[in-house]
Amino acid sequence: MGKRGLIIYDTIYSSTIEVSFWLKALIGEDQHVDVKHQNQVLSIMPYDYIIIGSFTRMEKPSKKTLAFIKKNKDVLAQKQVAYFLTCGDTDETMVLKVPGQKAHLIGGRNYLIDTIEKYPQIKPVAIAGLGGRQVMPSLGRFDSFTIFLVGKLAKEGQPWAGLDIWESLVPERVEVFANEIRERILDLPPREDQEKLRGYWTSLQPGNVKDANRVKYTPKKANEQSSTAKIFFHRSRIKSNLEGAKALIKEWASSCDIDLREITVSAFNTYYHALKKYDGKELTIHVVASDMSDDPGNIHIAFRCWDKPAARNGAEEDINKAEELLWADGRRVE
Ligand SMILES: Cc1cc2nc3c(=O)[nH]c(=O)nc-3n(C[C@H](O)[C@H](O)[C@H](O)COP(=O)(O)O)c2cc1C
Repeated sequence: MGKRGLIIYDTIYSSTIEVSFWLKALIGEDQHVDVKHQNQVLSIMPYDYIIIGSFTRMEKPSKKTLAFIKKNKDVLAQKQVAYFLTCGDTDETMVLKVPGQKAHLIGGRNYLIDTIEKYPQIKPVAIAGLGGRQVMPSLGRFDSFTIFLVGKLAKEGQPWAGLDIWESLVPERVEVFANEIRERILDLPPREDQEKLRGYWTSLQPGNVKDANRVKYTPKKANEQSSTAKIFFHRSRIKSNLEGAKALIKEWASSCDIDLREITVSAFNTYYHALKKYDGKELTIHVVASDMSDDPGNIHIAFRCWDKPAARNGAEEDINKAEELLWADGRRVE
């Protein structure tokens, strides 16, 4: 008999359940995969592998999910485990800076880093931050207000403005994750016919009830530049692996006399503070290099400087130099 799997999920508005059944289908109809809500699980003992799926709330997996991991950590340490999150933000080079908080990484797999570090005895064979769906009129009052506030605080725009349904899910990430389960846990070849199962997610529900043509999701641009009173932001994509990109960032820092400090290091990304005195004042450039499971072979790199335009000229020049180096030798990917 083959390995027996459990997908245990937590959901409020149903995105996570849809993704769970989609994953079951992608893993394969010939495989034993139970799909159960947190409340329906009495024991995980009968399973060889457990896929733990949750929505994201205030940059974390759900409380129930965290409590489940805590309670079962010793058993989970003996099993093969994978984590996935549905979430609003999927850009894993994203740094959020809001008043009263330290600037920190958000989006996708970044929301799993704390949990993985907290339970080192559980070594997930695969992790994914997939994106999700928000149906604005269905949100509870508190959730609706929270989302409104998040929109105000997010410095890089409100992607959900004008939408009744805002989707951010990246289907390729679900498919890559399912293939990782097949290859790493089940010793099966990756599936190549995955697109035919996208109906588990896509639907005819309109993005806006008054404007049926409004699209529910526009992927964030891989190459982007903006310079406003609040932020100098550059983001680009290069042909490289993570180690290669990190070596280039180090080379840039030493050539520009920048003190480069690693703030967060994970298997899929690294967040740096690049410190340098410009006109006698020390500024921080926030640099993140990340791989993206849906964009194999490329690394996405973001630079952010939140100082005022008059003070940040030197930092802007250094960011331009960084990109010259990153893009050299035909590495830039449009
Ligand atoms: C109150 C609230 C807080 C949220 N916080 C985050 C967050 O911190 N980061 C994020 O990427 N998504 C966040 N989301 C988006 C949800 O995680 C996403 O829409 C998810 O797909 C919902 O899953 P569900 O439909 O299974 O409940 C939040 C949504 C709500 C309503």
